[in-house]
Amino acid sequence: MPRRYLVQTFGCQMNVHDSRRIEEVLEADGYVPAEEPALADVIVVNTCSVREKAEHKLMSLLGRYRPLKEERPKLLLAVAGCVAQQEGERLLERANHVDVVIGPDNIPELSALLRDADGGAPPVARTVFDDDAPEFLVATPRRPVEGVARPEVTAFVTTMKGCDERCTYCIVPYTRGSERYRPAAEMVAEVKSLVAGGVREITLLGQTVNSWSDPSEAKDRRADSRFAELLYRIADDVPDLARLRYTSPHPRHVTSALVLAHRELDVLPAHVHLPVQSGSDRLLKRMLRRYSREEYIERARLLLGARPGFTLSTDIIVGFPGETDEDFELTLSLVREVGFVAAFGFKYSPRPYTPALRLGDDVPEAVKSERLQRLFEVVEAQQGRHLAGLVGTRTRVLVEGPSRSGKGRFSGRSARHEIVHFDADGFDPTGAILEVEIVEAHRHSLLGVLVPGSADRPLEPRKVRPTSPPASPVRLPIAR
Ligand code: 5AD
Ligand code: SF4
Repeated sequence: MPRRYLVQTFGCQMNVHDSRRIEEVLEADGYVPAEEPALADVIVVNTCSVREKAEHKLMSLLGRYRPLKEERPKLLLAVAGCVAQQEGERLLERANHVDVVIGPDNIPELSALLRDADGGAPPVARTVFDDDAPEFLVATPRRPVEGVARPEVTAFVTTMKGCDERCTYCIVPYTRGSERYRPAAEMVAEVKSLVAGGVREITLLGQTVNSWSDPSEAKDRRADSRFAELLYRIADDVPDLARLRYTSPHPRHVTSALVLAHRELDVLPAHVHLPVQSGSDRLLKRMLRRYSREEYIERARLLLGARPGFTLSTDIIVGFPGETDEDFELTLSLVREVGFVAAFGFKYSPRPYTPALRLGDDVPEAVKSERLQRLFEVVEAQQGRHLAGLVGTRTRVLVEGPSRSGKGRFSGRSARHEIVHFDADGFDPTGAILEVEIVEAHRHSLLGVLVPGSADRPLEPRKVRPTSPPASPVRLPIAR
């Protein structure tokens, strides 16, 4: 009887990606997936600590597993991810039924630690950064199981670990360590292997993905990022890749070469998620974001102008210490001025070890809630107008799979990342890029009809840029 595992994931795409690597490590050791906690021999909870709420959720989940563990003492419980890294051994004290605490850089050691725990070893915490010899676990393409699983349409590829910024509210530099870049050749090989396995879209991942530099070059802290070159290289070397996204870029590493890449490489989307956090210079300084409102707007304009129909989305924190009504109004006015079509809004949450802790948490909860609500209203209105404006236009949709909403209905994403639903009677277009005419705009998605003939019309081959990218990206005024 093979042992069964269950991995539960909280938090960002980096964690979703790490969870897949955890699953691969366990499967290589002979484990098979379990459908629910009660059937699992090992439960791994991959955690997030970016806001306090995520940490509370973990503690209550671990509480729910206590009776399960009392019933079946052989059940092994492991905690991975950012809370594991942040708390280490303390977590073993806070939850004494946890067997293994494992940091993001120690995933390859998980099987051995579980084996020890199974053999009766005491609970253990392994949370050591691999600064000297960074290792990037290679993604294994998921093989579709005949009649059960579909081929994977989109996949993530890691470009870097850690973050060298020190935004004063953020715990990530403490839970993920300093920046370590992955060699380009390794990423190109991984993209090629995923595309050969049927993947059509790759999302490059990194905390500040566009600060990527080649690790073989001497690490000059003031050197420009080589991220745009990486995009050209992947586009040139993997001509069968249909779409290449990346998340999340930091505004201070938006170079002119990156803007040019969006103009020249049609594999890149006409959309970027560019976190701004605040529209007030006073707060941007207190957050140590290292750009001003005007500098952000200038870069946003350059990206928006890179291609017709280009859109931006963003992250915003409300209620950062010292945020006045006036500061918040500046954030709203920036949201309007840039015209974001989507935004994730967060209430400021004080995190351990972060410099902002000493600023206090002086914006009352009710004010944070009200500001978040007002932000949502402005963003929803902009999103609504944007989606309504697309009715009657045609867009190319990368089909991700059947919609949950009904038989014969499929959904996918436009090149701008809008969700598009449409009916495809009699065939399964998963993985295809189809032309769809938009007929209705909903709150957060679009409804379209297939353009006749688009299903069997071969796609014109993607334009691969014949020349090489600019040797040195032109530094825009704010890269400091
Ligand atoms: N409080 C609230 N939001 C935060 N974020 C990061 N740290 C905090 C915090 N302490 C938000 C930022 C970031 C997103 C991933 O989470 O907006 O871009
Ligand atoms: Fe956190 Fe700032 Fe790094 Fe993003 S750039 S992970 S917000 S420290």
